[in-house]
Amino acid sequence: MTKRTLQIDFLEIEKLEDLAAGDIVLVEKAIEIAKKSYSPYSNFPVGAAVLMETGEVFAGNNQENIAYPSGTCAERTVLNYVHANFPDKKIKTIAITALNATAAEPVSPCGFCRQVIVEMEMNQKSPIKVILHKLGAQSFVFESAQTILPFAFNDLVLKNK
Ligand code: THU
Repeated sequence: MTKRTLQIDFLEIEKLEDLAAGDIVLVEKAIEIAKKSYSPYSNFPVGAAVLMETGEVFAGNNQENIAYPSGTCAERTVLNYVHANFPDKKIKTIAITALNATAAEPVSPCGFCRQVIVEMEMNQKSPIKVILHKLGAQSFVFESAQTILPFAFNDLVLKNK
């Protein structure tokens, strides 16, 4: 028997203005789009903004429904739009923020969304940087989406390539 340990490396950046200039713009875009979220049931607006390798920026927010499971997270709103329209363009960065979060640390994407980001990362064969921002406070920066989903369900996907 072997005890194994995983280590997750990420940056904690205390203030928004201490992020790289392009990352600040992306976080601001995520904040702006979160304000347009349709989240009357949870009152938990989330925004996600994506920077493409081309420099284009796309954004999305959570879209809820009275049939609760029909709702979609902010991350998948924008990622699925991007992948539907530009399947061959690479994603460089995704910034995520929530407006009404009360936790002391930035909100982190749900398991569904992590799985989606990881598959896009694997398909494009280059890392997607993930920025999690707590409004008015710190950001966490992960250089690759795989970092936040260790043991992602990817074995079959990899073998079929
Ligand atoms: N939500 C997101 O949009 N992204 C996440 O990463 C976590 C949760 C949404 C789903 C739902 O509309 C609301 O936040 C409360 O769970």
